Amino acid sequence: MNTHEGLSLPAAAKINLYLHVTGKRPDGYHLLDSLVAFATAHDQITIRPANQLSLVIDGPFGRGLPVSDDNLVLRAALQLRALAGIHDGAQITLTKNLPVASGIGGGSADAAATIRGLVRLWQVHPGLHDLSGLALGLGADVPVCLLGRAAYMGGIGELLDPVDDLPAVPLVLVNPAVAVATPEVFTARAGGFSPANRFPAPPSGTDELIELLNDGRGNDLAAPAIGLIPVIGRAIERIAATNGCRMARMSGSGATCFGLYQTQAEADAAALAIGQAEPHWWSVAGHLLSNIHDL
Ligand code: C5P
Repeated sequence: MNTHEGLSLPAAAKINLYLHVTGKRPDGYHLLDSLVAFATAHDQITIRPANQLSLVIDGPFGRGLPVSDDNLVLRAALQLRALAGIHDGAQITLTKNLPVASGIGGGSADAAATIRGLVRLWQVHPGLHDLSGLALGLGADVPVCLLGRAAYMGGIGELLDPVDDLPAVPLVLVNPAVAVATPEVFTARAGGFSPANRFPAPPSGTDELIELLNDGRGNDLAAPAIGLIPVIGRAIERIAATNGCRMARMSGSGATCFGLYQTQAEADAAALAIGQAEPHWWSVAGHLLSNIHDL
């Protein structure tokens, strides 16, 4: 599609390969050290030229998400329009393939794809406007989704150091059909803070990536999330029990968990097996992405 006919942009799931809570700001937001990458599973944003701004939501998880003014896609569009002094509209369709409120940044990825698409449609000059500030105002995960590259995330999500060429590890994403309220998980977190613990050097392949992730790097939000919603623990156990699973853990504040595999056939079989064992859960196979433009 060209900008005249409209634009179609994938909004890839983000995955926190590890996530350390390193501190807390006076305003209550938490400081993080996280390695964020993306997965091939994605929502889709389609944008067509129009006089008015409008949003339609469809797709398998579309019903869980009403079109309202606090929808991240509409907020992104309205705020970009105000920031750039644009008077045009756009007809936006969000095809919601990813579960809502699930730790894989679906809403954040949708907002980022909307910004990227409208910048093209409305010919906004990215250098003239603070798009990073706009992204952060929409949510702590929106800046990394707008960057669209794997990155170490610091601050509350605004300090990004891109990491190139993570291995395209085969994976499964599993959501045990529960939505999680991120603030509740942060509040339930007990104990002190963890140190930042970036990799000393980029991993050369799957084995090294998994070794580095197992070496004192985990998800500090997993224990509080499982405490609130025990079925997340069962999802991790189910993934860990599949053939060839090299690592199983939760992403973000949950409830979506991921498993890493050596081969795509193992990941595909795992997604199928979990889907059969737990027909109400969401379970898909794919692979890790360092750059969403490879989708
Ligand atoms: O920024 P976002 O809307 O994704 O965050 C949702 C909530 O999660 C925040 O209101 C805050 O309670 C919590 N949060 C946090 N520290 C972060 C990101 C989110 O405490 N770095």
